Amino acid sequence: MPKAIISLTAVTVALLAAVAGGGDTTARCAPVPSMTAEEACSAVCGTDHMRSLCHRTLLPPRRRVAAAARRHAVTRYISAAARVALDAYAATAAAKRVTEYSAAVPADERTAHERCIDGYDLAARFMARLAVVSVSGDVARSGCDAAARRRVREDFEGCLDGMDVCRRRLFGYPASPLYGRNLADRNMTLLVALLSNLVISPAPAT
Ligand SMILES: *[C@@H]1O[C@H](CO)[C@@H](O)[C@H](O)[C@H]1NC(C)=O
Repeated sequence: MPKAIISLTAVTVALLAAVAGGGDTTARCAPVPSMTAEEACSAVCGTDHMRSLCHRTLLPPRRRVAAAARRHAVTRYISAAARVALDAYAATAAAKRVTEYSAAVPADERTAHERCIDGYDLAARFMARLAVVSVSGDVARSGCDAAARRRVREDFEGCLDGMDVCRRRLFGYPASPLYGRNLADRNMTLLVALLSNLVISPAPAT
């Protein structure tokens, strides 16, 4: 019996050491940053076009004044932008269905549209995950959520891949109504990816 107690103590000591070691790791893990929408847009957007897309997305006119001053965890901006992207994908898929009824669209272009929308289906699956993104940044409570951060990266890369699948298919059809839509949807997807980067490699806390 005393032997059992000793080995239990040894296990407990080992566990405590592991927890303490883990504590060192989590201490180096930056929390999910909080900022205003304006700050988030400035932090991630390199062009005026992207910045204005970002403002339109995160600060819809109806709520602009009230919303602009508030700071939120950036995960909130990722999910808000992801929902807008999903709406844009749905609108493009609807535009594609309209082309199915047009006799003027040649067969090869129809095939290109089908393949393009395969890319959208792929992108939408990943984007739906970003719309409910959850990354714990509370170091004290649950530590560095490395797995969640990795998933965020996989998700936005999947979205960008899906947009590129479509773009490659439409390359020979610049007059297609889907062509311009895809360029705009890709920019929207890029915005989600840029915002997502804020949780993957957060700036050091200030
Ligand atoms: C996408 O963004 C780039 C710059 O970030 C801009 O030049 C381009 O016009 C945008 N395309 C569309 C279709 O919005």
